[in-house]
Amino acid sequence: MAYYQKKNGFKRCAIIGLVVLVCVIVSVAVTLALIVLRSKTPKFRLTSVTVNDLSVTNSTTSPSFYISLDAVYAVKNPNFAPFHYPDTYITFWYRRKQVGVGRVNEGNAKVLSINEVSFKVSLNSRAVSTKNLSRDIRSGMLGLSVGSELRGHVELLKVIKKNKTPEMSCAMVVNLVDEVVQDLKCD
Ligand SMILES: *[C@@H]1O[C@H](CO)[C@@H](O)[C@H](O)[C@H]1NC(C)=O
Ligand SMILES: *[C@@H]1O[C@H](CO)[C@@H](O)[C@H](O)[C@H]1NC(C)=O
Repeated sequence: MAYYQKKNGFKRCAIIGLVVLVCVIVSVAVTLALIVLRSKTPKFRLTSVTVNDLSVTNSTTSPSFYISLDAVYAVKNPNFAPFHYPDTYITFWYRRKQVGVGRVNEGNAKVLSINEVSFKVSLNSRAVSTKNLSRDIRSGMLGLSVGSELRGHVELLKVIKKNKTPEMSCAMVVNLVDEVVQDLKCD
């Protein structure tokens, strides 16, 4: 009699323990899934651009520029799960013409952190028509816009994933006389 009671008591404890364990596992899984599913789109922007080298031909008939820039992009992850992204490019435009591309290497922004990476990019006016270029060079100010997107995902434990595509949209002015970048703005 006593033996059976003891055995039943043990069984009951084991079952309760198992139920509690399953509950804990389920609530942890639900919490992790919610962290990923409710994650926000990270921010992707340029945080710094400086002129490394610059040469301009200031002429009405064959104006041209070559500009080498040192820049830094930042991927800011506001989530409690890491954000992973693949290789991509950052495109620089002058008056809607592509004048250069910078490279983004695959990487990740850790939980609640900012991943800042420096890169170099060379811009040239080969694809640009002369008309507005000669005027802009004469004025000494070259307006550039910069765009890119990261087709990445927020991920936990390799199984809970959500795609996020932060877009970069920046503008800046290269002051050709002082050889500095000014008015860098990103949306
Ligand atoms: C060149 O300048 C003119 C006058 O400001 C403007 O209408 C035109 O759209 C410009 N062209 C380009 C390609 O930006
Ligand atoms: C181009 O020449 C004009 C005068 O001819 C000058 O005012 C301007 O600053 C020059 N632009 C650059 C980028 O040096």
